[in-house]
Order: sequence, then structure tokens, then C-alpha cells
Amino acid sequence: MSSASTIESVLVENRVFPPDERASKGARIASMAAYDALCKEAADDFDGFWARQAKANVTWTKPFTRTLDESNAPFYKWFEDGELNASANCLDKHIGTPVENKTAIIFEADDGAVTKVTYKELLARVSQFANALKAEGIRKGDRVIIYMPMTIEGVIAMQACARIGATHSVVFGGFSAKALQERIIDAGAVAVITANYQLRGGKELPLKAIVDDGIALGGCESINSVLVYQRTATACAMVAGRDKTFADALKGQASECPPVPVGAEHPLFILYTSGSTGKPKGVQHATGGYLLWAKLTMDWTFDVRPEDVFWCTADIGWITGHTYVAYGPLAAGATQVVFEGIPTFPHAGRFWQMIEKHKVTIFYTAPTAIRSLIKAADSDEKVHPKNWDLSTLRILGTVGEPINPEAWMWYHRNIGAEKCPIVDTFWQTETGGHVITPLPGATPLVPGSCTLPLPGIMAAIVDETGKDIPNGAGGMLVIKRPWPSMIRTIWNDPERFKKSYFPEEMGGTIYLAGDGAVRSADRGYFRITGRIDDVLNVSGHRLGTMEIESALVAKTDLVAEAAVVGRPDDVTGEAVCAFVVLKRGRPASEEEARKIATELRNWVAKEIGPIAKPKDIRFGENLPKTRSGKIMRRLLRSLAKGEAITQDTSTLENPAILEQLGQAY
Ligand code: WTA
Repeated sequence: MSSASTIESVLVENRVFPPDERASKGARIASMAAYDALCKEAADDFDGFWARQAKANVTWTKPFTRTLDESNAPFYKWFEDGELNASANCLDKHIGTPVENKTAIIFEADDGAVTKVTYKELLARVSQFANALKAEGIRKGDRVIIYMPMTIEGVIAMQACARIGATHSVVFGGFSAKALQERIIDAGAVAVITANYQLRGGKELPLKAIVDDGIALGGCESINSVLVYQRTATACAMVAGRDKTFADALKGQASECPPVPVGAEHPLFILYTSGSTGKPKGVQHATGGYLLWAKLTMDWTFDVRPEDVFWCTADIGWITGHTYVAYGPLAAGATQVVFEGIPTFPHAGRFWQMIEKHKVTIFYTAPTAIRSLIKAADSDEKVHPKNWDLSTLRILGTVGEPINPEAWMWYHRNIGAEKCPIVDTFWQTETGGHVITPLPGATPLVPGSCTLPLPGIMAAIVDETGKDIPNGAGGMLVIKRPWPSMIRTIWNDPERFKKSYFPEEMGGTIYLAGDGAVRSADRGYFRITGRIDDVLNVSGHRLGTMEIESALVAKTDLVAEAAVVGRPDDVTGEAVCAFVVLKRGRPASEEEARKIATELRNWVAKEIGPIAKPKDIRFGENLPKTRSGKIMRRLLRSLAKGEAITQDTSTLENPAILEQLGQAY
């Protein structure tokens, strides 16, 4: 499904799916009238609304007296004089309630082995690990890098940082040594928590060795300790005086550790994400507002109930794995599945098999996973979901990219048995949690639409000057008022924060999401049309085109110039296409072109990570430029799609190169 045909089928989309009675009966928000009432409450008494939510959903060690401080907008502050601890809000608060002996995490390893921990056990393990961090000299306000596989230990590492007020920065296990080094330096981290290896798809992949390589690249003198979880029996190199295994670090540590109260605005974490320049942005989140959102959206969007088994398939290295694995489900006292492996190992029915095995009731994944599993099921009956009993499911969700209506319908029929509402949740690293999403017990669903903003989220579609655009016409997605879980700043770069998200032309206080969107003429439902900046969305992962271009030109022995654009892809949503000018001129043969393309892909994997590898590489003796020397990116996008060139190419310096760039390797 190309995005052009997706858009077409969405434009004619007129199927509407009202909430099934199973979903609306007893739901927290059980009708559109109830939703409207909450929206009205937020509109009429904005501060009061959020104050009431924050009191009802968060345990404060010191109550806040002031809800929202806008005096230094866009550096908004929420609940600022309140104090809390995020880990206490996820664990301690359940002790002495029926939740304490409930399973918190059902962990399924890559090889299928299952381990379970209760809330009480998880609290003890987090506390013991927090004591180990303290013994390493880590204190409130210190930054700690977490480079871990999807494991209970990964969640423990995050919770333990939160417990002592250290700010974590999780780096996805697929990122390279170079990416890791950049993040260590930018964050000024004092420690790295990692594992010797990670297990994915039956393969053992190094993590600790990459940490060593990253630190060896230089500039990481702030790192005093590296803690290593022995995930597998394979040995890894250890640096004396700096590195310790988990087992050694935990030896003799007590399993009680009082949670350190922090101010509501204390940075709970920094998570790096791609922007429109070459350098990733350290998105900084505050403790109070973020925690409120993690809890509230578990209630609103997933309507989570005591008997639910919740499964979010995202890795803790992404924001979805922060809010809907490491914090939200625990704050809600839910039982959740944590999965180490990949959806296609040992077969592409793994997700469906796991839903049956663990009796999952709420399942939350990315459209790209659904599309690839549709493909697999189409070509192999044995991995079709009909082979498993999925009748425990009651709510489905998607996140990360637009879902095409065909994939939506397949998910609805084959996974949801036409009974489970699908919550198509739109949000971003910067928003901390869902902002535009259906409510399972209330919202009539339209395939391909994330429907309506949550109560209190003042989302709108505007033009460049901030003027509202009528329903039915496309524009830029903005949020006009602050909300508790919004990004607080870009770590180390407040100016970039202002410039990236709060454009002067719109008055400097309105949040610009970076996505295009359109509201339907009939219902006012939002549909996201994709990024309006230089950010690509490949398999639901954000990649900056500039970041990949910088990586390519850093291969100075080969590359003179590079430009990167996205093109639609059936499975991954978008694919990376690189246009490259080599120093030596165009490759002399097909064979040489293929060889260099492989070399460049491996180089990008080393510089950023395998997820950033260009799918297509095209070589030209130059890039198409205007006479003033500007790269014609629109033209590159057409070339990447294999479209006929309809643009005016009369300003092109050298029209012959269009032919050269026609061939992809
Ligand atoms: C895209 C992921 C359409 C969007 C939580 C956004 C979506 C970017 C949806 C953020 C959705 C996320 N429909 N597009 N339901 N959810 N996006 O920071 O382009 O990794 O700006 O956060 O993903 O990606 P991020």
C-alpha cells in the first residue's frame, strides 16, 4: 500500500464503527456525552480540571498549591511546588492493597521461557538495584544512560533511577557506538547500565562491547561506572575499577530503599529523538506531569481494569516503551507482558501465540508490525492468527505512524473478531503520552483516523501564521494550550526548544507538532497526513534526513555529497532513499555500484544504527540543484517514488543527472 493510495482510500473512508457494548459497559468514559462533559470541564476551568486530575491520580509527598505557571512561556511549569517520587507512584503505592501480590510483569524471553514478578517482588528488586546505584555514588540529578534489552531488568533499571531521583536516558539497543557516545556526552552521564548481550530472533547480539566502543571514541570522561547485566553465559570484556556485573553490584544491598521525593518539575528522563538538523534532540520530561499522563491515559485510552493483561510491544528504548511499559502499566497496577524477542521468531505467528498463551486483553502495537504480519499470514496459513485463540482480547491499539484502512480492517477482523475497539493513538516523544486518540468505550471509530483530542488537549489545525483552518482542509497540527506531560525543554539547548516547537509567527506559545493533519468535514475527526519537517518515519521509528546525510558525508574517503528523502513503503510506511555523489565520480559498473552501496549501508549502520540504513542508494555525478545551488528535494522525492517528473526542471543546472539517478541500488 503506497501512501498515495492510502490517502485516496482514507478520503473515501465512510465506514464508522460505534463502540461495542463490551467496551462501553462500565467504561470510565462510556459515551460521547461523558467525553464532551470532560472537555467542557477542561475548557471552562482549565487549571481546576488539571489540579483535580493530578490530585486524583498521583500520590504526592508534598501537595502542590499552584497548577500551571505560564510566566516564562513556553517553559511551562506544572504542579511546581509539589513533590513526589515516580517509582513510589508505580510500586510503593500498591503495597498494602490487593495489587501487592498481583503479577506486575509476565516476561517472555526470546526463546519462549516465561518469568513472572509480583508488585511486591518488583519493589524489592527495584529498591535493591537503587541501593546498588547509590553505592556507585549516583545521586539525585545525575544522568544515567540505560542501554538494555527488553527485560525485567531494563524496567528495573529505569525505576531504580527514578527511585533515587537520577535522570535516565535510555538508548535503544539498536543504536551504534557513535550514537551512544554522542548521547553520553550531551547528557553528561555518570554511569551506563547495560547487558553483556541481547537476544533477538535466536541471535546473541553484543551490547557491552558497543558501550566500550562508544566510550573509547572519546569525550566520555564523565562516566564513572558501567553496570553489566549478564543476560547470557557468554563472557564480555570488563574494565577494572569501572565495570561491575549486576550480581557484584547487588551483593549485600538491602531490598528496601526509601524513594527520594523530587520536585514535580525534576527531570525524570531525557530521551533523544530525531529532529530536522543532524543532531538528535534530548527531549526532557518532568516527573509530575509525565507520571500523571502515564496513569491517566492508561485509564482513559485503555480503560484498564484490574483483571486486564496489558501488552505493549514497544521497546523501552522508545517513548512508547517508557510510557506504556516502564511507567503507565505499573502506575495503573496492571499486569503486563514484556517481550524480549521479535514478532517473526521463531515464526510470524509469535504475537498471536503469545496473546493466547498469556490471555492478553489489551494489545498495543505499531502499524508496521501489523502490515508485516498480514504479509506473512497471507503467504503462510500456519502463521495466520486464526490458528490461535484470541478471544481474551477486548481492546486493540496502534501507535507510531498512520494506519492505512486496509491494515485497520484486517486488525479489526482477524485480531479483534470485529468486537474490539482499535485506539489509533497519535502522540510523540515530545507529548509524553497520547494526545489525540479514540476512547474505547465512547468514540465511534473511522479507520485511519486518530479521531479526537483527549479532554484538555487543545489541538487544532492552523496555517503558518497560526490561523485556524476549516475542517476538510489540511494544515499544521498544533496544541494551543500546554498540557502536563509536554516536553519541558531540549536538554542543554533551550533556544532550540523554542525554535523547534513554538514558532514566533504563531505567537511563540503554541506547540507545533511537526505533523500535517486534516479534520473531517462531518465529525471534525483528525487524520494525520505525515511529518512536515525533515523527519522520516520508518517502521514507526523517527529518523532525521539530515542525520543520515551527515553520516553519509562523514565517509570522507568515498562521499562528496549526499541527500536523503523518504519514499512510501508497503511494510515500513516510509523507506530511506539516499542520493549520493561519490568523490571518484559515478561507479564504473553495476557491480561496483552494488559494492559501494553495501559499504555505505554498513557505514550508516555503524554511524547511527541498522534502522537508519538506506533502502535505496542512487548515484549521480551531481545532485539536481537550482541555479542558486539549492538541492531540489521535491524532485528527489519524485525520483525516489519512481514517479514521472512533472515538475519544472528548466532551472536545473544539469538535467542529464536525472537519468543517472533513475537507478537504485
Ligand atoms: C507519528 C511515537 C499517525 C507522527 C509515539 C509523530 C503517528 C511521530 C501516530 C512521533 C498515529 C505517531 N497516526 N502518525 N497514531 N503516532 N505518529 O516521537 O508523525 O517516535 O510526529 O513518538 O510519529 O514519533 P515518536
